[in-house]
Amino acid sequence: MNQVQNFYAQPRAGHLLAGSLRVPGDKSISHRSVMLGALATGVTEVSGFLEGADAISTMNVFRALGVRIEGPHAGRVTVEGVGLHGLKATNQALDCGNAGTAMRLLMGLLAGQAFDCLLVGDESLTKRPMKRVSMPLALMGAKIETTAGGTPPVRLIGGQSLNGIDYTLPMASAQVKSAVLLAGLYASGKTSVTEPAPTRDHTERMLGGFGVKVQRDGATASIEGGQHLRATAVDVPADISSSAFFLVAAAIASGSTLTLEHVGINPTRTGVIDILRLMGASITLTNPRDAAGEPVADLVVNAGELRGIEIPEALVPLAIDEFPVLFVAAACARGKTVLTGAEELRVKESDRIAVMADGLRKLGIDAEPTPDGMVIQGRGEHREVFSGGVVDSHGDHRIAMAFAVASLRAAAPITITDTLNVGTSFPGFVELANRAGMQVTALAV
Ligand code: S3P
Repeated sequence: MNQVQNFYAQPRAGHLLAGSLRVPGDKSISHRSVMLGALATGVTEVSGFLEGADAISTMNVFRALGVRIEGPHAGRVTVEGVGLHGLKATNQALDCGNAGTAMRLLMGLLAGQAFDCLLVGDESLTKRPMKRVSMPLALMGAKIETTAGGTPPVRLIGGQSLNGIDYTLPMASAQVKSAVLLAGLYASGKTSVTEPAPTRDHTERMLGGFGVKVQRDGATASIEGGQHLRATAVDVPADISSSAFFLVAAAIASGSTLTLEHVGINPTRTGVIDILRLMGASITLTNPRDAAGEPVADLVVNAGELRGIEIPEALVPLAIDEFPVLFVAAACARGKTVLTGAEELRVKESDRIAVMADGLRKLGIDAEPTPDGMVIQGRGEHREVFSGGVVDSHGDHRIAMAFAVASLRAAAPITITDTLNVGTSFPGFVELANRAGMQVTALAV
C-alpha cells in the first residue's frame, strides 16, 4: 500500500454543473449501523451503506471480534448481531485505518468487555488525541492505555466493571459523547453526558431505533446501563458532508443548477446549508421525508453571487467537517469571511486550518490562519478566483476534494497531491464530479 495518487483538476470553459446525483452513504451513520447491529440480538439489514475505507474498517473490526457480516454489496450490509455480551476476544490488533469515529466509538463500546483489545490506526489517526475519550471512560472505571502523548495505539484492559457517570464534555464532540453513551450500555446505573453545544445525534437516534431508551433533557443525553438492542433495518441517507462539495461547486460555478438526492438533513448536520445561505447561496430542500429515524430531503442548489460573512460560532459544530470546502466558498465570495471558535479543526484528519490556509495561499488567496479559525479575503468579483498550482492535501480526504472544487474558478489547473484517502469517505468522487461537469483526473504517481 505504498501507492500515491494525485488529482489533476482542470478549469472548464463554461464552468457549469447540472443534473441530479446521489453521493455515497453517510459515514457517521454507516459506522454506527455496524456497531449497533453487532451488539443487537437478531439480524440488522443496512441499505445505503458507505462503501468507503473508513466504514469498511469498522466492519473488519467487528469481523475480528467474531461478528458475521455480509457485504457491502451495492450498499447492502447484513449484520448478524451477537448481543451486548457476545463479542469474542481476539489477539489481532483492531485496525481503525484513517477513521477517528471508529476508534473513539470503539473505545467506549469495548471498554466494558471481558477481554483486552488493542486499537491501532494509520499515520494520521496515530497523531490524533484519544485522551478526550479515555479520560471520561476512566472515570467510569475503564482501564485504557495510550501513548504518553495521549495518541494511539490504544490498549483496553478487559474485565473492568463500569459505573455510570454524569459527564460534562469539555469540547463539542459527538465522538466523545457517543463513546461515553456506548460505554454506558455496559455500566451500572445511569450515564449522562452534557454537551457545551449541540453535536450530531446519530448515536442517540439510532440507539432509539434499536429499542434503547436514551433520555434527552436540554443539553444532556442519558442512558441506563444493561439495556438490550434489538436488530432493525437502517436506511443510510446520502452524506451531507459529501454533498457539501457539490453544494459549493454548483454555488460558485456560474449558470449551474444541481440536485442532490436523498441527503441526510439531520438538524445537527445542516450547518453547511445555513452558512452557505448566509453567504447568499440559493439552496432549496424538496421532498422531505424520514429514513429510519433520520430526516432526508433532495437539495437543489443554484449558482449565484456569494458574500463574505462572520460565521456564527453556534453553527461551527453543525458544519465541523465542511470547513475545507466552505473556505473555498469564502474565497469565491465578495468581501471578507471570518471563522472563529473552530479550534477542533486542528485535530481532524489533518490540521485543517493550517493545511487549508497553506493551500489557499498557494493559489493566490489572502488567507490568514488564526488559532481557532481563519480570515479569508474573498475574490468573488473575479471570474477566476484561484491561480493554478500545486497544493498538498496531506492525505486529508476533505481537503483534496475541496481543492478539486476550487478548480471551477481557477485560472489554470490545480494539482492536488496525496489524494488516495478520498476513498475513506467518498469512493467514486472523481467519476461523480466529472459526471456533474467538473474535470478531475486521478493520477497514480
Ligand atoms: C463524527 C463526529 C465529528 C466529525 C467526524 C464524525 C461522528 O467529530 O468531525 O467526522 O461520526 O461522531 P467530533 O465529534 O470529534 O467533532
